[in-house]
Amino acid sequence: MNNNPIGLYDSGFGGLSVWRELHRALPNESLIYLGDGKNCPYGSRPAEQIRQLAEQAVGDLLQRGCKMVVVACNTATAAAIVHLREKFADVPIVGLEPAIKPACRMTKTKVVGVIATERSLQGEKFLSTLARYGEGVEVIKSVGEGWVEAVEQSEEHTAKTELAVRRVVEPIIERGADVLVLGCTHYPFLKDVVCRVVGDRNVAVIDSGEAVEKRVESLLDEYDLRANEDNQPRLEFVTYADKQYCDRLRQKAMQGL
Ligand code: DGL
Repeated sequence: MNNNPIGLYDSGFGGLSVWRELHRALPNESLIYLGDGKNCPYGSRPAEQIRQLAEQAVGDLLQRGCKMVVVACNTATAAAIVHLREKFADVPIVGLEPAIKPACRMTKTKVVGVIATERSLQGEKFLSTLARYGEGVEVIKSVGEGWVEAVEQSEEHTAKTELAVRRVVEPIIERGADVLVLGCTHYPFLKDVVCRVVGDRNVAVIDSGEAVEKRVESLLDEYDLRANEDNQPRLEFVTYADKQYCDRLRQKAMQGL
């Protein structure tokens, strides 16, 4: 048993999609969410720079006493997870990966679309997972241009955002995809818009939120780190940006709970 918090880290608001899954499934766990905010977006930054940002962030979460850290960012996972696990070897660190494996199992048309940041789509782990599970499947890789910015600016429901979503999603569906993978933690906040663009075409839209939550639970058990049932959880939000950003993180986390 351990009542210390679980830390979550993302470039900004995206990891809150993972935060919600964790808070729903593990309501007695304290959570500290670190949304960088100052250096967002990470998507097209060089890998080395992302590694440095991630090392600082995970180090800060551990300073705050976190018993486990979830890198709730596909981009930071792609660039830094191996380094983070070496550097902070005493603490379980969970990463996020696009849901390639379930997508390749689900598809009937044998065409799958993966939407993620530029950096994630170049990640070694992504490419090796693709090679492993993508045999016989055409995987169309696309960057969600403007999607992260839309979520950061709370502009999920504007006409401009719908256009940005349509521009990415339409060509993938036209090529016959029946599964779309949202491979960036910001994108689940655009799921309604993606589904509206998909309309009544038979296309599944999936992300990694639930799989990560299950992984966290299994590590809590493996390391005997679950909080007591009567633990009064603390929900903290921190950022390298300003106070207003921090308030917005909290508000967004609480929306729809
Ligand atoms: N939320 C992030 C991800 O999962 C990063 C988005 C960004 O900062 O570009 O990839």
